[in-house]
Amino acid sequence: MSTQDTLTLLRPDDWHLHVRDGAAMATVVPHTARQFGRAIIMPNLRPPVTTTEQALAYRDRILASVPAGLSFTPLMTLYLTDNTPASEIERAQAAGVVALKLYPAGATTNSDAGVTDIRKTYATLEAMQRAGLVLCVHGEVTDSTVDLFDREAVFIDRVMQPLRQDFPELKVVFEHITTKEAADYVASAGMFTAATITAHHLLYNRNAIFQGGLRPHYYCLPVLKREIHRQALLAAATSGSDRFFLGTDSAPHPAHLKEHAAACAGCYTALSAMELYAEAFESAGALDRLEAFASRNGPAFYNLPVNEGTITLKREAWTLPESVAFGDASLKPLRGGEVMNWRLVD
Ligand code: DOR
Ligand code: ZN
Repeated sequence: MSTQDTLTLLRPDDWHLHVRDGAAMATVVPHTARQFGRAIIMPNLRPPVTTTEQALAYRDRILASVPAGLSFTPLMTLYLTDNTPASEIERAQAAGVVALKLYPAGATTNSDAGVTDIRKTYATLEAMQRAGLVLCVHGEVTDSTVDLFDREAVFIDRVMQPLRQDFPELKVVFEHITTKEAADYVASAGMFTAATITAHHLLYNRNAIFQGGLRPHYYCLPVLKREIHRQALLAAATSGSDRFFLGTDSAPHPAHLKEHAAACAGCYTALSAMELYAEAFESAGALDRLEAFASRNGPAFYNLPVNEGTITLKREAWTLPESVAFGDASLKPLRGGEVMNWRLVD
C-alpha cells in the first residue's frame, strides 16, 4: 500500500484558542488565520471578557491583526462569572457571541474571576439553554484534596452529571478533554454534549513533561495524563463520532514565563496545528477521518455552515522554528527545533 503524500481538507476551524491581546496577539493571530477559517476565542484576558461590549471590542482588535489576504473569523465567547446577569445572554446572542466559558475559580490561567459554585449561574444557564448558546467548560475541580491528575474525572461526577440533569438541552462542550473517563462520558452523553481535543493530548502522555529533565513547554492544564488516556483520546478523535472535534487550546506565554520557577500552563501549537493533528491521525491510520474532526463536526455542533475553500498538507520533513518574536519577549512553540512530517502548503 502506498503512503499518502498530500491531504486536502475543507478549511478547518479551531474550536478552542487563546490569542491574548496587544503586541502578543499580533504574533499569534496570523499563525491561526493561516491554518483555520474560524476560531473560538477564549475570554480569559486580564481583566476577563465578561460583557458583550468587551467581546465586540476584542473582536475588532483581533480582526485588525489578521494579515491582508486571509479570511479569518473570530467567534467570541464571554467569561461566565457568579454575577453574569441572565439579561446579558440576549445581548450576547444578538451580537453574534457563540458561547460562554465556565472556568471553575482558580482552575487555571486567569481564572480568579471564575465560578465559585455553579448553582450561582443557574438563571444564566437557563437563558443560555433557551437561546441555544453553548457552554464551554474547563472541566476540572479545584478541591485541593483531589489529586491534580484526577481533577477531570472527579469533575464529571461532581459537576458535569448534575449540570446535564438540570439542563438537559443546554449545549455543553467539555473542553480539552484529557482522560478516558471524559472520552467515555462524552461518547455516551447524548447530542447536547461534545468535546474538543488538543493536538498535544493526542500526541503526548505525561512522560513528556519529565523527559530528560523538567520540560515546561509540555506543561498545560488539564495536565497531560497516562498513556492509556492518550490512547483513549486518539480512539475518540478517530472514532467517527461527530461529538469530538478540534480545539488546539493553543495558549501562548512568553518563553521566560514558561522557563520559570512557577512555569505558566499552556502549550503553543497554533504555528503548526494541522501538521500536529495530521501526525496524530496518521499514527492511528485514520487520516481519512481528520476532515470530519477538523472541519465538519464543530460547525455541526455550533450550528454553523462549514467553511468554503480547502487547505492542503504535504508530507515533507521540515524543522519548526525554535522561537518567534512575541511583543518584547519570545515565544517557543511546542516541538520547536524538531522535525515535523507534514507541512501546510500556502
Ligand atoms: O494550559 C492552559 N493554558 N490551560 C488553560 O486552561 C488556560 C491556558 C492559558 O490561558 O494559558
Ligand atoms: Zn484553554
